[in-house]
Amino acid sequence: MALFDVTIDATCGNARALTFETAHGQVHTPMFMPVGTHATVKGITVDQLHELKSQVVLANTYHLYMRPGVDIVEAAGGVQKFMNYDGPMLTDSGGFQLFSLDHMMKTDPDGVSFQARDYDGSKHRWTPESNMEIQQRIGADIAMQLDQCVGYPETRERVEASTKLSWEWAERCLAAHTREDQALFGIVQGGMHLDLRLESVRHLIEIEERSIAAGHKRFGGFGIGGYSVGEPHDVMFETLGTVAQACPEDRPRYLMGVGNPTTLVRAVREGVDMFDCVLPTRTGRMGTAFSSQGRMNLRNAKYKVDFTPLDHECSCPVCQNYTRAYLRHLVKQNEMLGGILLSMHNLHFLIDLMARARQAVLDGEYEAFYQEWMASPGANDY
Ligand code: GUN
Ligand code: ZN
Repeated sequence: MALFDVTIDATCGNARALTFETAHGQVHTPMFMPVGTHATVKGITVDQLHELKSQVVLANTYHLYMRPGVDIVEAAGGVQKFMNYDGPMLTDSGGFQLFSLDHMMKTDPDGVSFQARDYDGSKHRWTPESNMEIQQRIGADIAMQLDQCVGYPETRERVEASTKLSWEWAERCLAAHTREDQALFGIVQGGMHLDLRLESVRHLIEIEERSIAAGHKRFGGFGIGGYSVGEPHDVMFETLGTVAQACPEDRPRYLMGVGNPTTLVRAVREGVDMFDCVLPTRTGRMGTAFSSQGRMNLRNAKYKVDFTPLDHECSCPVCQNYTRAYLRHLVKQNEMLGGILLSMHNLHFLIDLMARARQAVLDGEYEAFYQEWMASPGANDY
C-alpha cells in the first residue's frame, strides 16, 4: 500500500472497517486515539501504549508550540523521536484549544491572534500557512487544518461565519501543505445546522478537487469538529450520521474530541471511523473507571474491602493484577499510581471497545454488537 492509501476492509450498514497506511505503520478502524497533549499520554509509557494496543497518539500543536517550542521538537527529529514513540501520531491544529481555553483570541479572515495566558502571556499570530509550517515541522503522520469552532448555543450568524472561515482556511492549508509523509485532514464545521454542515462538506470536496486538478494534494481524511461543545447529548446524533455519510467513502472520518463509550458505539453505526478524547485519562486521574457495568467512582466506600478486579470482563493488565480495594486506597491517598492504573484501564476499555466494533463489522454483525452494547449496564455511562 502507498502512504495514506485506504482500504475498506468491510462495511456493515453504515459502519465501516478501514485500514490506512502511515509512515509509522498501518492503522485499523474503528479506533480510539489516546490524547498526549504535551507529547506524553499522562502517566503512560510508550511500552504501555503498545501493550494497550494503542494505534495512534494525538498531540497538540498549540501546546508543543508553546513548550518546548517547535525548534526543539524539530531538532529532536520530530515529535515521535522526541518522545521515543515509533507508532503513528496526529497533531490537532490548535485552533480548538485556543477557542476552548479562552486565549483572548481575535480571529480575522487572514488568521488568529492570541495571547498564551496559560503559559507566559506572550502574544502570537497564526495563519493557515504558518500553522501548516508548524505542524509539518512537528512532523506527526497526520496534521489537522486550522479551523474555527464555536460553542453552543450560538447564533446561526456566528456559526455560519466560522464555518465559512474554516473552509476558506482548509483551502489555504491544503495549498500550503507539502510534506509527503504527512496527511492533512480537512475539518467539517457547521454547528448543529445540517445545511451548514453539508455545505461545509461540499466545500471541502470542491477544495480538494481544485487541489488535485492543480497537481497538489488531497485530504487524507475528514475531521468532524464542532460537536461536544455543550449541546445536549442527543442533538449531535440529529446530524452526525448524515454528515459522516456525506464525507468521501474512501477516506477516514474522525469525530473530534468525543469519548463516551456509548457515543463511540453509536457514532460507528453512523459511519465514523476515528475518535480521540481526554476523557479516559482525565477521569482516570480523578478516580473514575469505565466498566462493563457503567462508570465506577473508586472513591466510593463500597470498594473498601472489595478484593475483586475492577472489571470482571476486562482483560487489561490492571484488571489482571489489582483489586478494587487497592485502587480505591491509591485514589483516596492521591497516590500517582492510582491515576496511572485507572488511565491504563480506561484507555484499554475504549481501545478494546473499538477493536471489538471492528471485528463486529468484519463479521457483518455490527447491528447485533450495537444492540448488545445498548442493552448492557455499561451503556449507562453518561
Ligand atoms: N477537537 C474537538 N473539536 C474540535 C474542532 O472542532 N476542531 C479542532 N481542530 N479540534 C477539535
Ligand atoms: Zn481493566
